[in-house]
Amino acid sequence: MSKGSRFVVEGGNRLSGKIKVGGAKNSALKLMAAALLTEETTILTNVPIINDVKTMAAVLERLGARVAYSEPGVVEIKPTYPLYPEAPYELVSQMRASIIVLGPLLARLGKARVAMPGGCNIGLRKIDMHIRGLEAFGARFEVGHGFIEAYSEKLVAAKIALDYPSVGATENLLMAATLAEGETVIDNAAREPEIVDLADFLNMMGARIKGAGTSTIMVEGVNKLHGGEYRVMPDRIEAGTFLVAAAITKGDVVLEDVSPEHLELAINKLRSIGAIVKVGNNEIRVIGRDVIRPADIATLPYPGFPTDLQTQFMTILAIAEGTSIITENIFENRFMFVAELNRMGSDIKTEGRHAIIRGVSGLSGAPVNAPDLRGGAALVVAGLVAEGVTEIADIYHIDRGYHNFEQKLRAVGASIERVSDTDRSNRLKIVR
Ligand code: UD1
Repeated sequence: MSKGSRFVVEGGNRLSGKIKVGGAKNSALKLMAAALLTEETTILTNVPIINDVKTMAAVLERLGARVAYSEPGVVEIKPTYPLYPEAPYELVSQMRASIIVLGPLLARLGKARVAMPGGCNIGLRKIDMHIRGLEAFGARFEVGHGFIEAYSEKLVAAKIALDYPSVGATENLLMAATLAEGETVIDNAAREPEIVDLADFLNMMGARIKGAGTSTIMVEGVNKLHGGEYRVMPDRIEAGTFLVAAAITKGDVVLEDVSPEHLELAINKLRSIGAIVKVGNNEIRVIGRDVIRPADIATLPYPGFPTDLQTQFMTILAIAEGTSIITENIFENRFMFVAELNRMGSDIKTEGRHAIIRGVSGLSGAPVNAPDLRGGAALVVAGLVAEGVTEIADIYHIDRGYHNFEQKLRAVGASIERVSDTDRSNRLKIVR
């Protein structure tokens, strides 16, 4: 139960030790949706058991698939007949990424009815490119009564140039293309490592995809895909969050089960602000140092600096010796946590896409609200170094994307507790 819970963090501990990084949320969700493309059983390992994964499992079950967790991190999906083409609002509204079932449903059933994702608190997050791309395969769309409905007798391969390298649109089109007739070319495709993971998974299922990880992806359609077993890639954003947590506390932490090559820019930035970062095969060691230097960061599609690490880096720059500028180019509303961080003593002003961060000598613990997933994680990171106690409310946002967040932090020396609001109000009554 996280809806009415908060994290209570006492700042000041140096983090030290080892943390095992889990499987990537943003890949696992898509691989689960891709499992709809076959009638056979798919087994995914290294799946993070976070709330978004549970929501995607609920979506798949509503579509008629059987989803079973055989052991921690192992999810078995069998899309048994009959599949239903409808993803309801109550689930899609919990997680916008549910829109990713559109491509697989069209490819498998020739129809899909997916609730409109609705407002999301990190920006408009339109889906026009998903729709235009699927129309190019011959699908027809109707939008009304809060639903997107799509039909197609058969999907026919197409040459599609995306206006922008959208991660979600690339994934939806990639999945639809695997079962479309003929050879599809997706130009200006997203190059994120999660796209490569999805393509590797689909190829394991019998798809014929080339070029994933570059701007041009080619897909030769096949008649059928089969099941199999696949290990989800490591979560580069969880890893990046812990890298910053280690550096900001002047700690010494080794991250295990990580792919350092996916974190090149984040590692370079940490080095430029003064941390020592040593890269091994599947591990990264970060040693924070006393002086934190300012830096300028602009988020961009991969291989640019990830928007999902923007808030965490803003937190460490908040206590740098000098002024930094962060430009957020991907989502228009990813500065919501700034008002909360400023309540902890930072000096940050935002103007449109830019944030000017004047480094202060320290942060002070305060009650704050997690405004979204990554903003919430960044407030926890701030709490680790703030003087006194920070209470972060609305941590259900954080639970969407981080598995065992507080346990992992505690294991390397952080003082962090999860307190349910009921316990808290009982405690306050006792104190009074
Ligand atoms: C995914 C990630 C998210 C990450 C983002 C960018 C998941 C579940 N989420 O989100 O964590 O921050 O990639 O790396 O994997 N856009 C349009 N029209 C469209 C599609 C997108 O205008 O049809 C815009 C969006 O509003 C946004 C930008 O393009 O401003 C990037 O979106 P996109 O790359 O699609 O991100 P998501 O797949 O939603």
